[in-house]
Amino acid sequence: MHKDIEAILFDEETILKRIAELAKQITEDYKGENLTCICILKGGVFFMTDLLKKIDMPVMMDFMDVSSYGASTISSGQVRIIKDLEHSVKDRDVLVVEDIIDTGITLNYVVDLLKSREAKSVEIVTLLNKKDRREIELDIKYCGFDIPDYFVVGYGLDFDEKYRNLPYIGYLKEELYK
Ligand code: PRP
Repeated sequence: MHKDIEAILFDEETILKRIAELAKQITEDYKGENLTCICILKGGVFFMTDLLKKIDMPVMMDFMDVSSYGASTISSGQVRIIKDLEHSVKDRDVLVVEDIIDTGITLNYVVDLLKSREAKSVEIVTLLNKKDRREIELDIKYCGFDIPDYFVVGYGLDFDEKYRNLPYIGYLKEELYK
């Protein structure tokens, strides 16, 4: 285990097992549909690639980078588009792929934006859900794990751009971010 990690919350095997379950459900729900999966960079990359490998039907991938945090651990409440989508979502079923939902500010903005661009449907899949921190209610169709309000890193999740490439999700030692 990395020296900055207090404890492991989900190991790699547990993460991949849960992702396979989500992918099976998504495959059943969208069979025959024109699904576009949109990864919210950068944290969602690891989840997106593992999830899509297990979805058993054709899927289009696209990427969007939005930010409301900067280098801080507290949401600014203002969402900025850093990189927009490459393809139109008009008349497509869209699944937004996120690593974690916290206040809900980022995803609320993204979902509204995709609806305004006339997507046929917009749903959310998130690996982690910090319900206790929610400020804006969101309808989350697929969720990997509900987690308590502790700072977690790994499997795409960072602190100041570090720890994203840890293969597990763990609690960061408190003295490193407080
Ligand atoms: C994280 C996460 C979500 C957002 C969730 O991204 O990937 O996009 O915060 O927080 P919210 O529900 O409070 O809006 P971050 O801005 O840290 O960017 P990153 O994925 O590049 O690390």
